[in-house]
This record gives sequence, structure tokens and C-alpha cells, in this order.
Amino acid sequence: MKTIIAGNWKMNLVNDDLQPYFDTLNQICINDDKEVKLFVPSIFLTTAHQLNHNNAVKIGAQNMHQELQGAFTGEISAPMITSVGIGDVLIGHSERREYFNESDMLVNKKVLQALSSNLDLTVCIGETLEERQGNLTNNVLECQIKEALKEVEVSNLDHITLAYEPLWAIGTGETATSEQAETACSYIRSVLVELYGEDANKVAILYGGSVNLDNYADILAQPHINGVLVGGASLNIDNFSQMMK
Ligand code: PGA
Repeated sequence: MKTIIAGNWKMNLVNDDLQPYFDTLNQICINDDKEVKLFVPSIFLTTAHQLNHNNAVKIGAQNMHQELQGAFTGEISAPMITSVGIGDVLIGHSERREYFNESDMLVNKKVLQALSSNLDLTVCIGETLEERQGNLTNNVLECQIKEALKEVEVSNLDHITLAYEPLWAIGTGETATSEQAETACSYIRSVLVELYGEDANKVAILYGGSVNLDNYADILAQPHINGVLVGGASLNIDNFSQMMK
């Protein structure tokens, strides 16, 4: 399995930032054993796709609506995403769950829609600080995985990535220790195996939450972690490109 280095710009950067970002990105030689994904705001999908000349990275949307079309002002659909040449989408990020009330059931609808629209998807899961302190981490993860993947067939697994992002580590500067991240990702793998048997190994499991230049190598060295999802540190192309190398 390739190591995945994924960036999530969230609601940051403006149009003028794209050219210099991709000028640097396009000069980086990404080894065959790595896959780089970049989740950009939907308004930049087309420009990012055009600037990604040699298709060195996979550009993805940060969210999509579960319906194919309709009266949903301000939303974007899976067909819109694919129609501009984009093949990846992030689903159920904790900020979507927290600020936009996305439930596990809604996340599942989006997952199923993304799959039937031929998108590759990265589903985010993770516990809050209270849940961790209450020893509920495994229960929360198991429930989020089983809900998100309800009715997902084994044949779709190679289109799915899971990102373990404990909420208390996102944007806080407080990273899970590599042991905490490894323990959770190893548990996530065991839930996937329970659901899908050996085919579960097609699903990459990423860690996200305050990943930066100081901690990414340690995190990537863990046996059950197949990559990282990087928020703040992906905004600076020099930092992000270090991680790709
Ligand atoms: P962060 O964000 O790296 O800024 O903590 C990670 C994420 O939310 O994907």
C-alpha cells in the first residue's frame, strides 16, 4: 500500500495563492511509494486541477451533498465534482460534523453517493476529549465506522480511505502521541477486518490532528498508520513538500 500524504486547506488561502503553491508543488518529485492528495475549497477545484499539470497529486473536494441535484443553495454535488475532472472527496470531517450537524447517518448517505458517482473518498472519524477521558474511544470509533460504511460492499473498499482524527488534536497544536495514534488506527483496522475480512486491508488508514514537520515521521513509522491528513501545515507548501519527500 502506498503511503498517503493528504492536505486539507479547510477555508484558507485565496485565488492568488494557488499559482505559487503549485509552482513549488510541480517541481517536487513524488516517489512511486507515495500518493499525495490535496483537499481544496470547492471554488478552487477547477484552478487546482488545471495547475496540477503533471497530475502529481490528486485534488479533492472537502465536502459534497448527498443528493445528485436540486434546491440546496450553496451546496455542491458529486456530479459537479466529477464534471470538473476531480475524483476525490473528503467526507464527515469533524468540522462538518460539529458545525454543520453532520450525523453518522448523513455521512453514510454521502459515502454511498460518492461511491455510486465513482469518487474515491476519505471518511474522517475520531473521538472528543470527553469521550477519550471516559474510555469511550473504541466504542465511538466502532460506531462511526459501522455507520459510515453501512451497505458499502467489499468491492468498493479500494475507493475508501479512513482518517482517524481525534477532535482534541485538530488545530490545537496538541498531537496524539504516535502510540495513541497507532493504538487507535490498529483498533480501526480490527473493526474493518471484522466487517470485511482480509479485504479490509485495501483500506488505507490515516492519522490527522496537528501533524507537522516535527511529528510526521514518527507517526508514519507506526505499523498501522498508512498516511497522514494534514490541515494547518499543508497551507505552507515548503512544509507540506518536506512531508512528501
Ligand atoms: P490540523 O487539521 O492539522 O490543522 O490539526 C487536521 C484536519 O482537520 O484535517
